[in-house]
Amino acid sequence: MNSKYQDLFTSYTLPNGVELKNRIVMAPMTNYSANPDGTVSEAEVNYYVRRSNGVGMVITACTYVTPNGKGFDGEFAGDRDEMILSFKQLASAIKAEGAKAVLQIFHGGRLCPPELVPNGEIVSASDVPAEQPGAISPRALTETEIEEIIEAFGETTRRAIEAGFDGVEIHGANGYLIQQFFSPHSNRREDRFGGSLEKRMTFPLAIVDKVKSVVEKHATSPFIVGYRFSPEEPETPGITMADTLALVDALANKGLDYLHVSLSEFFSTPRRGVEDLTKTRIDYLLEKIDNRVPLIGVGSIHTAEDARKAFETGVPLIAIGRELIIDPDWVQKVAEGREDEIVTKIDKNNQEQLVVPDPLWHRILNVPGWFPIA
Ligand SMILES: Cc1cc2nc3c(=O)[nH]c(=O)nc-3n(C[C@H](O)[C@H](O)[C@H](O)COP(=O)(O)O)c2cc1C
Repeated sequence: MNSKYQDLFTSYTLPNGVELKNRIVMAPMTNYSANPDGTVSEAEVNYYVRRSNGVGMVITACTYVTPNGKGFDGEFAGDRDEMILSFKQLASAIKAEGAKAVLQIFHGGRLCPPELVPNGEIVSASDVPAEQPGAISPRALTETEIEEIIEAFGETTRRAIEAGFDGVEIHGANGYLIQQFFSPHSNRREDRFGGSLEKRMTFPLAIVDKVKSVVEKHATSPFIVGYRFSPEEPETPGITMADTLALVDALANKGLDYLHVSLSEFFSTPRRGVEDLTKTRIDYLLEKIDNRVPLIGVGSIHTAEDARKAFETGVPLIAIGRELIIDPDWVQKVAEGREDEIVTKIDKNNQEQLVVPDPLWHRILNVPGWFPIA
């Protein structure tokens, strides 16, 4: 190994005592490839096995906690006990390759396609559609329904524990339901779940509390609980960097094992809400967190050099997503001093060697600008 990259390969102990063998994490990525009954497919398991040997921790694609939270065609289900066996297969396949296995738990809210949810009924914090062409007006959830969804996040966590996962990641990012409650764009409520910045945090923090209480009750060994968030929204009103720093301040006191910022560019700078717009979001977050909880950084870390530079900012863990689809041996190549051999563009003829399920492969080749194609 090139000594420049040695620090990326030191082990890291999370607050709950779980040790990761290195600092590189597989970012959560939806692959649209579950079986029609909601179970994890063999193609998905094979895809994870191919990518779980180098990284210290794998965060899976998101799984929906209630039927009306299903956000993607071919998303595997986490909303009922019949799925535990299927979860078991996924968790044990990842763990057998040497990585910790973390299940991402999710509700899509107003971004769910109507054809995927019961009666085509889309729900959210309020009845405000997303600012996207063709977006549908959701129905505002009642307080009872909100309580049921919080409970459902707990139930999916219990299933993850029973299935042998090492942890869960609460998906509070990318515009989905948890973020919709935090956002002044999608949350116009005037009850205890909305109205002020503090009240908009009620739902995200209640989910954290629920998940933590389930872990306390059901886990017999240390179980990882992480939380993912997106730092800003482009809309007005919308989440600002200042809002996020307040949320992160609250989350940092919750006894979580990590926070995970969702960024497409690791070194991106804030859009608004803070004084210095030249300082990176990562630097703002690290300053606010002040070592209370580990932060995972992510976003276009294509090369070993990119990873080294990202790590130098002080984040203890780095996630890579598309890079591991394009080159499943990304981590091993750096570990073996072969970083020059990392592939950075999808080879259209290489689906079989890359072990990518058909539905994901189809999207990779057909969604413009998503993946660099050779
Ligand atoms: C195919 C694909 C699926 C994704 N699905 C999820 C997901 O289920 N949950 C999530 O939090 N982020 C998801 N993301 C975002 C990634 O976790 C990551 O933040 C993003 O790809 C940037 O990292 P990268 O530049 O290393 O790819 C997805 C990204 C891709 C490319």
